Amino acid sequence: MKLLKTLLATAVAVSAVPAMAYEAGDIIVKAGAVTVTPKDGTADTSGVTTLLAGSADSSELDIDSNTQLGLTAVYMVTPKIGVELLAATPFEHTAEIDGGALDDTEIVKTKHLPPTISAQYYFLDSASPLQAYAGVGINHTFFFDEEDSANLGIDGLESSWGMAYSVGVDYLVHENWLVNAALWKMDIDTKVKGSAADGLEVEIDPTVFFIGAGYKF
Ligand code: NI
Repeated sequence: MKLLKTLLATAVAVSAVPAMAYEAGDIIVKAGAVTVTPKDGTADTSGVTTLLAGSADSSELDIDSNTQLGLTAVYMVTPKIGVELLAATPFEHTAEIDGGALDDTEIVKTKHLPPTISAQYYFLDSASPLQAYAGVGINHTFFFDEEDSANLGIDGLESSWGMAYSVGVDYLVHENWLVNAALWKMDIDTKVKGSAADGLEVEIDPTVFFIGAGYKF
């Protein structure tokens, strides 16, 4: 009986110890839908459209949003600090003139990849299945397959380095499985290469939203 009591006491003690959501060395891989939404009015194209249309008007460049398959991988350095890499299948965006004589004219179509590496801090109790984090990191965006839609002589877009700020929540639905939602604000600024718009600064500065499921290894 004494042995049984000891065993029971041990079992109760063990089950009462809260499992840590994350421990140092954990790798969490997440897959889901990621949407890049550029800010409105990414560039002031007044000067350019004046040249193109021969008229003085005010216009800006609007870029549509796009959703792709997103992948994030997080390495936990401690139960509260992670390093995250965000990757995705290539995004496709169309940039159009908004306003003025060339309103709605498609100017350039491009693909891009915005890999982002961030340091994260998990600020909730390590024992909680709900984990929330904030991160700060660096984004590198490079553009490819640029199409000069309006035949203006645009050669492409310069690649960009910028800061990325993120917040997110994980909810561990089972020992290793979790659901995740995350938001990044990225500083992505590029310049047009070639044409009358050569050197035109385009501030894409998108909001990036991810929703998906993950597995903790
Ligand atoms: Ni910017």
